[in-house]
Amino acid sequence: MENFDKFSKEYEESLEVKFKKANGIFYTDLRLATLLLNELTFDHENMKIIDPYCGTGVFLAAAAEKGMKNLFGIDLDKKAINLAKKYTPTAKFTCMDSIACEFKDIMKRFKLKEKFDFVISNPPYVPLKSTSLNTKEYLFLRQVKNYGDNLYIAALLRAKEMVNDNGFIAFIIPKNFLHVNAYSFFRREILRDFSIISIIDLGMYFKNVRGEQIVLILKKQKNDNNKIKIKKLIDNEFKLLTEIKQDFYNDKIILFENDEDVNIYKKFNKAYTTLNDYVKGYVGRGHSKDKNSIGGKDIRKFGFKTPTAVTSGNQIFIQNIYSAEAGIIACFGGELKANDTITIFTDGDPTMCRYVLGLIHSRLINFYLLKYCFNISTVTMHIDARYLKSIPFIVDNENFNVVLEYVNKLENLTYMSDEWFKYYDLLNRMVYRIYNLSQKEINFIDLTIKKLQSKKWDKNGK
Ligand SMILES: C[S@@+](CC[C@H](N)C(=O)[O-])C[C@H]1O[C@@H](n2cnc3c(N)ncnc32)[C@H](O)[C@@H]1O
Repeated sequence: MENFDKFSKEYEESLEVKFKKANGIFYTDLRLATLLLNELTFDHENMKIIDPYCGTGVFLAAAAEKGMKNLFGIDLDKKAINLAKKYTPTAKFTCMDSIACEFKDIMKRFKLKEKFDFVISNPPYVPLKSTSLNTKEYLFLRQVKNYGDNLYIAALLRAKEMVNDNGFIAFIIPKNFLHVNAYSFFRREILRDFSIISIIDLGMYFKNVRGEQIVLILKKQKNDNNKIKIKKLIDNEFKLLTEIKQDFYNDKIILFENDEDVNIYKKFNKAYTTLNDYVKGYVGRGHSKDKNSIGGKDIRKFGFKTPTAVTSGNQIFIQNIYSAEAGIIACFGGELKANDTITIFTDGDPTMCRYVLGLIHSRLINFYLLKYCFNISTVTMHIDARYLKSIPFIVDNENFNVVLEYVNKLENLTYMSDEWFKYYDLLNRMVYRIYNLSQKEINFIDLTIKKLQSKKWDKNGK
């Protein structure tokens, strides 16, 4: 067993990059597999466990270590299956396409009548536009398409067919499953038909896989007052952050960290209007093809990188690529033309534009985007219209002019000078006041942003 990771890795590295990409091959290490199994309760040693996309069989090897006896593994890759057999001789393995094959064929292959108690895997992640599923099951194909069109979505749908009532599915999947619109139908089905036992944030666990991953543990039992455990991989352990009632969610699943986090979210959703309630102009990508038009790389917070004359007009330019490190980068664009690396936002006149500019640069609004739109993702995102429009927005009569004054300073002072940072800080504090947040909530936002943003935006860290 000691050598499991070494041989598994050696085999993975021996595979051609193209083959790996097409089949979503990246293996889980034994440590993570064991941590995941520790989250599950096995009532007796004969409970049936399958990994239908098992690669070299790490989950089955870890389950065998725990004394489990009824183990099944499937993979397309014959060589991986041969290695798996070597490491876990007590398990039954077969080589087949367990996504395209109907479930009854899998049962026939293993000569089984009853479904599985546990379906555990790290399935392949491959957008289906680049592959095609070799099945004639029209409804299955349609569902895969409507549920997000990715191999891991198809794999999860198959897992649903394989698991017993009251059985468990434990899958490592991309974290963006929790919040990206394309997966909305599937999330809602899961929230309705399953109890979500826990969601464990793994961060960017796999070196060559883009984005972050989670462990999703589901019980095939309808939600009845279930509480979801939200955990995070910290120092080789799955640490419990908080518990949230499943009923709290009806689509997007935000990974809350504590009570402040939940309270801020509730405030954002209930107490305030959104930018959408105010904006009556255009929100969307720039579409100028002019080579002199402004692009994302031409702007910085509150201005342009090179001196640019702007007259009146009513546009705000926002760099379309959003990273946690830099946060919103936007400036007043007046009547200038912008290309599609800019998201344009028009409303009213230069005065209202500048008020909006002040608010969207604040820590509070960046926190909103990072946390409640992107679930604290460290990969870059596109700051598209639907996210901007959902921003909680208050036009505060009392402090309107103060925000304008600060924005004016930030536009005109030397960029990132001490004076500039002084006003950036004043702006942040003013925005907290406008949104009426408690000191505890402010501290939580400051801390979260501090951890994620580049040090250069932190006045004290400068
Ligand atoms: C992300 S790897 C993970 C393997 C293993 N579960 C682990 O965690 O180490 C996904 C595996 O799915 C297999 N696979 C991809 N498409 C498959 C399919 N249609 N049927 C069966 N296995 C498939 C790949 O060969 C690969 O071994």
